[in-house]
Amino acid sequence: MPTPGRADGSARPSAPPTDNARSEDRGVNSQAELERAVSETLIDESTLQRRIAELGEEVSADYAGRDLLLVGVLKGAVFFMADLMRRLTIACEIDFMAISSYGASTDSSGVVRILKDLDINIEGRDVLVVEDIIDSGLTLSYLMRNLEARQPASLEVCALMTKPERREIDVPVRYVGFEIPNRFVIGYGLDFAERYRNLPFVGVLDASLVPESA
Ligand code: IMP
Ligand code: MG
Repeated sequence: MPTPGRADGSARPSAPPTDNARSEDRGVNSQAELERAVSETLIDESTLQRRIAELGEEVSADYAGRDLLLVGVLKGAVFFMADLMRRLTIACEIDFMAISSYGASTDSSGVVRILKDLDINIEGRDVLVVEDIIDSGLTLSYLMRNLEARQPASLEVCALMTKPERREIDVPVRYVGFEIPNRFVIGYGLDFAERYRNLPFVGVLDASLVPESA
């Protein structure tokens, strides 16, 4: 286990070793399980960061002198949101919404529910919705109609990834990080059944875990 450092740079006395042997024997939540979930790396860490830096520059230039509010869509967009805002060279505020299509399948049902609404009023604000991935577009389309009704000064979307082949409904997306093929991806915030968000890169979900319906 790596030893945490201290803010002054001094080393911390090492923690007693923990015994993970039992869970690793069973393959339950071991590093091996996490690695088995990914069949291939689609976007590695440095490629992600390079592109996010470019997006940060674009957004900073476009929103200079405006009243930028980033609206992150929980939970998938948290990594992207955090890295993107670190790259902004202008002031911004943030807020979050949680929306859900039902179930744990890899397909969007198109039935969307607000689980957590924004804390603040967006009327008259320059709102930039930060999304992890646009698949069918159904979730985002619902969200955009909902936010538009609150009369922001402007409303645009910044999505880390889109799968153009899967689009069922046209949603204008101002900023796109990566166009990806029709594969189910995990990592860098994206989950399969709530797991694997912590992978620091975007990988393709291994076929052995893809449900029949996908
Ligand atoms: P849509 O409504 O079909 O566009 O689905 C959008 C939402 O489904 C995204 O915000 C993700 O939460 C989820 N999603 C779509 N594709 C993937 C994927 O490949 N991996 C993980 N989540 C996905
Ligand atoms: Mg999701």
